[in-house]
Amino acid sequence: QEHDLNAGTAGTSPGQAPAVKKQITILYGSQTGNGQQLAEEAKRQLEGDGFAVELSSMHTYKAKELKTVHRLLVIVSTHGEGEPPDNAMAFHEFLMGRKAPKLNDLQYAVLALGDSSYEFYCETGKQFDQRLAELGGTAITPRVDCDIDFDEDATTWLEAVRSNLQTDTAEVVQATPQLELKQDSNYSRTNPFHAEILENICLNGQGSLKETRHLELSLEGSGFQFKPGDSVGIYPENDEQLVDALLSELNYDGTEFVSINKKGEQLALKEALTKTFEITIVTKPVLEKLAAFSSSKKVSTLLESANKEELQAYIDRRDLLDVVRDFGPFKATSTEFASVLRKIPPRLYSIASSYEAEPDEVHLTVSAVRYDAHGRPRAGVCSVQCAERKKPGDTLPIFIQRNDNFRLPEKQDTPIIMVGPGTGVAPYRSFIEEREALGTTSPAWLFFGDQHFTTDFLYQLDWQRWLQEGFLTKMDVAFSRDGVEKVYVQHKMREHASELYQWLEQGAAFYVCGDEKQMAKDVHDTLLAIIEQEGNKTAEQSLAYLTEMQQQNRYLRDVY
Ligand code: 2AM
Repeated sequence: QEHDLNAGTAGTSPGQAPAVKKQITILYGSQTGNGQQLAEEAKRQLEGDGFAVELSSMHTYKAKELKTVHRLLVIVSTHGEGEPPDNAMAFHEFLMGRKAPKLNDLQYAVLALGDSSYEFYCETGKQFDQRLAELGGTAITPRVDCDIDFDEDATTWLEAVRSNLQTDTAEVVQATPQLELKQDSNYSRTNPFHAEILENICLNGQGSLKETRHLELSLEGSGFQFKPGDSVGIYPENDEQLVDALLSELNYDGTEFVSINKKGEQLALKEALTKTFEITIVTKPVLEKLAAFSSSKKVSTLLESANKEELQAYIDRRDLLDVVRDFGPFKATSTEFASVLRKIPPRLYSIASSYEAEPDEVHLTVSAVRYDAHGRPRAGVCSVQCAERKKPGDTLPIFIQRNDNFRLPEKQDTPIIMVGPGTGVAPYRSFIEEREALGTTSPAWLFFGDQHFTTDFLYQLDWQRWLQEGFLTKMDVAFSRDGVEKVYVQHKMREHASELYQWLEQGAAFYVCGDEKQMAKDVHDTLLAIIEQEGNKTAEQSLAYLTEMQQQNRYLRDVY
C-alpha cells in the first residue's frame, strides 16, 4: 500500500554517511482515504524535520510491533454509530483487548476524524486516545477532534505535534535511506483543479423517479492520475436562492466582508455563504453557538432538554434558514455569525471511468438528491448543482481522492464479484473499463439493481458490450419496482447462492458499493447466510470466513 516505502535506496549515494534519525510511526484508519492523505502529509513534514517515518494502514500493521514503538501518531475516522472504519477494526480490537501491551515508553498523539452531525462524534479517536493513555502512553499533544471540514484543525494538530517533538531529546537511531516521493500533480484537496465539464447527461429515461447524471470532466492540464476505486472530490456552491433567502432573513446585506478562515482571509458575506460556509446542514455545535446570539427560549429549551432525540429530530433535514426563522433574530455581527459555521466539505464521488482507457477525462455518476421536509423542498448541494446549474463548458473545482480500500485484486486472474445498486455501480464501470484496457478476462460478476428496467438501467449498453466481449462474465439485475414484490440485489445473490459460494471458494474478491445503512447491511447479512448455508458452517464459522476474507482484502466496501 505504501508504494513509496519500496522506493529503495534512491537518494543515498554510495559512500555517503547516513544521517542519524529519530523514528516515528504513523498509523491511519479511514474509509474514505482522508486519513491516509493526512497521514502521508504528516509523514512528508516529519521527514522534513529529520524523522525516520514508518507509515502504515492499521489494516496492514503488525500490532505486536507496537511495543517497540516510542513515538506514534494515530489518525482515525469514525463510522456509523461510533464504529471504527473497516480497515481499523482488527487493530482497534487488538488494542482495546486484554492482550494489548503496556506502552510506558510511548509518546503518542491522536487525530480523530468525524462528523459532528452524528451523535458518536469522533468516538473511535476518543477510544484510541483513552486506551493509549491507559496502557501507559504520554500524549505529545492533546487529541484534536476534526469535523468534516478538517483541514484547518488537522494542520493545527500537526503543527503542535511537530513543535512538541522538536523540543524533545530522544534516542537516536540509524537512518533509513532518503525516500524519493513522487508528486504527480500540483493540484490537491487544498488547491483544487478547475475541471471543464465535457458532458452532463441524465441516465434515466422519461417517467423515472430518479435523476442520475453522468458527468464527464476534462483532466487536461491537471496532472491527475487515478486508479479504479478512487473518488473525485467536488467543492460545490450553495444555491443562490437559498443564500438570498438566508441573507434577507438575517438582515445582513451581503456585501460586508467576513473572515473565512483562521488566517483571516476575507470574502463578501454573500460570496462566503455561497462558496465557503455550509448552510444546508445544522449540527448541535453550530446550533449551540447560534443559541448564544438568540434570546429565544425555544432554542435553549431544545438544547437543554434531557431528551436527546428531540434535538436530533429538530436538526434532521433542517437548514440554517429554518434555524434563523425558528430562533432568530440573532444579536451577532455578520463576522460573528459566519465564524460559527462549518466549511462546505467537498463531496466525494466514486470514479466511473478508467485512467488506463481515458487518461484525459474522469467520469462520475451523480444522483440528484431532492425531497420535501418540514414544508419546504430540499436539494442536495452538490448533486443538484450538477443536475441544474452546471452545463458543458462550465467548470467544477475538483481533486482526486485516493482510496486504497477499494482496489481491483493485485493478481489479474482473481475472480471478482461486484454488488452495486443505483449509483453504487459507478466504480464497477471503472473496473471493467480498466479490464478492457488491460485485456483482463478473468471471471467478473456484477449484481446491479435499481427501480425500473426501462428507465433506470444505468450504463446498460456498456455492460452488454462488455458481457459480449468477455470483460464482464456474468450479470444479475434486480429491478425493485417492476413486479408486485420488491426484488433487491441480495435476493439475486440468494438465488445464485451455490455458485456465489463456489466463486468465494475459488478466491474471488467481493465488492460492495452504495448505500451503507440499508443495502450494505442487508448484503452483508445475506453473504453471511450464504456462506453458512453453502459451506455447512455455523454462524460463527461463517463470520470467521468473512473476517478472513476481509483480512485478505477480499471483502471490500465503498459505502456511504
Ligand atoms: P427501492 O427504492 O425500490 O426500495 C437503487 O436505489 C436500488 O436499491 C433501488 O432499486 C432500491 O429499491 C434498492 N434498495 C433499496 N433498499 C435496499 C436494500 N435494503 N437492499 C438492497 N437494495 C435496496
